[in-house]
Amino acid sequence: MTNVIILGPPGSGKGTQSKILVEKESFFQISTGDLLRKTVESGSEEGSKIQRIMENGELVPDEKVIEMILSEMATNNSKKFIFDGFPRNIAQAKALDNAFKEKSMILDFVILLEVKLDFLENRIKSRIAESDPNNVRKDDNLETLNKRLSVYQKITYPIIDFYEKKNKLVRIDGMDSIECVTEKIIQIIN
Ligand code: AP5
Ligand code: MG
Repeated sequence: MTNVIILGPPGSGKGTQSKILVEKESFFQISTGDLLRKTVESGSEEGSKIQRIMENGELVPDEKVIEMILSEMATNNSKKFIFDGFPRNIAQAKALDNAFKEKSMILDFVILLEVKLDFLENRIKSRIAESDPNNVRKDDNLETLNKRLSVYQKITYPIIDFYEKKNKLVRIDGMDSIECVTEKIIQIIN
């Protein structure tokens, strides 16, 4: 019955924590980044366009990501959704609000993982080290990370205020250990 958004800069641990919550708390994860990477892997023309946008660290058009989110929510009967990497701007946040209203669902918490920006380069480096060398994310390099960070600060940052005004926002120190962050999230949602 709990719906959660995990918010934070690139490398803050959104995907890591979402996957743990799927295991431990039976959430259904909707990650726009993962869904977009699948579209890229499909090799379609649309996938090639999306690939270029992701490799540049820019945002994929709202229309596409909102359509993906609505389709995931319609085809999965979960009572516990965790949104990883969505919304990323005010238009997406409003579209999610409308979807919740239409389905008589409630957004319970927006968990913001706070990590100092100069830590994120090391996070991305450790993810590269953890990855299969033939399957490193194309946006995991310093140049694209800097672009993703600048998009986060300019375009995604305002949604923090949007959710704060709705009394949904909870800030967590994302620089604690993975286990400690999980423990805090579980305390909040239960
Ligand atoms: P997306 O895939 O969402 O990437 P991101 O936001 O840049 O975030 P990351 O996935 O890089 O980091 P994360 O926070 O998940 O960290 P992780 O858990 O992996 O988006 C990619 C692109 O897709 C975007 O740039 C855009 O082009 C497009 N896109 C996606 N959503 C969109 C949307 N809604 N609208 C438009 N476009 C969209 O952790 C990173 C590393 O740190 C790992 O190695 C992990 O093991 C480690 N780690 C995690 N937590 C800790 C900890 N507490 N202590 C130590 N290490 C830790
Ligand atoms: Mg991720």
